Amino acid sequence: MTFPKIEKRYRRLVFLTWFLTLDLIMFGAFVRLTDSGLGCPDWPGCYGQLSPVGAAHHIREAFEAMPHGPVSFTKAWIEMVHRYVGALLGMLIIGISWIAWRHRKVLGHSPALAIATLVAVCLQGAFGAWTVTMKLMPLIVTAHLLGGITLLMMMTWLAAREKRHAPVLVEEIRWRPWAVAGLVLLFVQIALGGWVSTNYAALACMDFPTCHGSWIPSMDLHSGFSLLRALGELPSGEVISQDALTGIHWVHRNFAFFVFIWLGTLAGLMLRSAALRGPARLIIALLAAQLLTGLTTIFFEWPLAVAVLHNGGAAGLVLACTTVCARLYDVSKQGVTHDNTQPAIAKSAAAVPCADQAARDPAGRVLCRDRHVPGHSGAA
Ligand code: HEM
Repeated sequence: MTFPKIEKRYRRLVFLTWFLTLDLIMFGAFVRLTDSGLGCPDWPGCYGQLSPVGAAHHIREAFEAMPHGPVSFTKAWIEMVHRYVGALLGMLIIGISWIAWRHRKVLGHSPALAIATLVAVCLQGAFGAWTVTMKLMPLIVTAHLLGGITLLMMMTWLAAREKRHAPVLVEEIRWRPWAVAGLVLLFVQIALGGWVSTNYAALACMDFPTCHGSWIPSMDLHSGFSLLRALGELPSGEVISQDALTGIHWVHRNFAFFVFIWLGTLAGLMLRSAALRGPARLIIALLAAQLLTGLTTIFFEWPLAVAVLHNGGAAGLVLACTTVCARLYDVSKQGVTHDNTQPAIAKSAAAVPCADQAARDPAGRVLCRDRHVPGHSGAA
């Protein structure tokens, strides 16, 4: 196989897998929100069978015993499709890791991230299994959601490395810690959202911006955020209180305020950057969408499609913020410049194939450290 061919195949595989990861996260929300997580109460099969077709007898029995219970044909199929797609994702990531390791010289970067992604997908599979065997324990289900989000971050970084964009300016490099902090804040907000969802606290506050008519309603944060407990219970085994659910909901919607300010300001500043304008626009649009879908979930009493879109918006924000971080940190392909006359840089740099001769600015800073001709693709 010739070198350019393997590069092209690797790139295609990475983008396909990245797209599938995004879909699987949204489908995971659909599984959770349709209460299909226990549609097949064992793992990895469905009543030990490869598909709900083979398990028809058991599913019918469980359904007849409890028509509104966790098992039905529809729920079993939803759960099993999630598992099949998860298995497919695992296989694609094995392929990516193998190519990344085998052709590391041609691809021009270390296979470490691809191999870490393989470890992450295996862990994610384990959390998927525990989600079922530990009967939807909120901590495990939230960890499963966060595992999916971590996987999306890794896949986005792998994909961002393969996509051309305008060079990052030297003065933009100072945004690195702010962008990482934004990603951390977003991750915490997603964890809090997962906690709302897995504790069924979506409707604990039905008014906005106040909750039960008050800015600081009566809440039991200690119980709400006690981690080791079964679904719908307190650690003592008592039924979870309304005050605990209110606390869970209130923290998520109010923490969102910090996330909006931080990411909104950062994205606003990045609109001036040719390299970061694309993801910055996406962040601004998705923040607005997130507010809208969050409020719609509350006011229209939790419509399924909107709740799935709220999850998709969170995944989209992860994608955009990770792309920003990847572009700021991983400058090996497109290079860094302190000249903001992009076309001029692109032209002058294009004349210098970097494998033969490192292109440097007058201050000696590296413009391109890659074997590719660093032409400006105009891609955002
Ligand atoms: C940057 C802002 C936000 C992010 C990243 C975010 C993220 C999330 C995530 C990941 C979930 C879990 C979804 C799932 O399990 O599938 C969630 C749930 C939820 N969020 Fe947000 N959220 C944000 C802002 C808001 C705001 C402003 C509100 C309301 C005012 C809100 C209300 C809710 C509600 C009610 C749920 C529970 C939905 C359910 O159980 O289906 N969120 N959020």
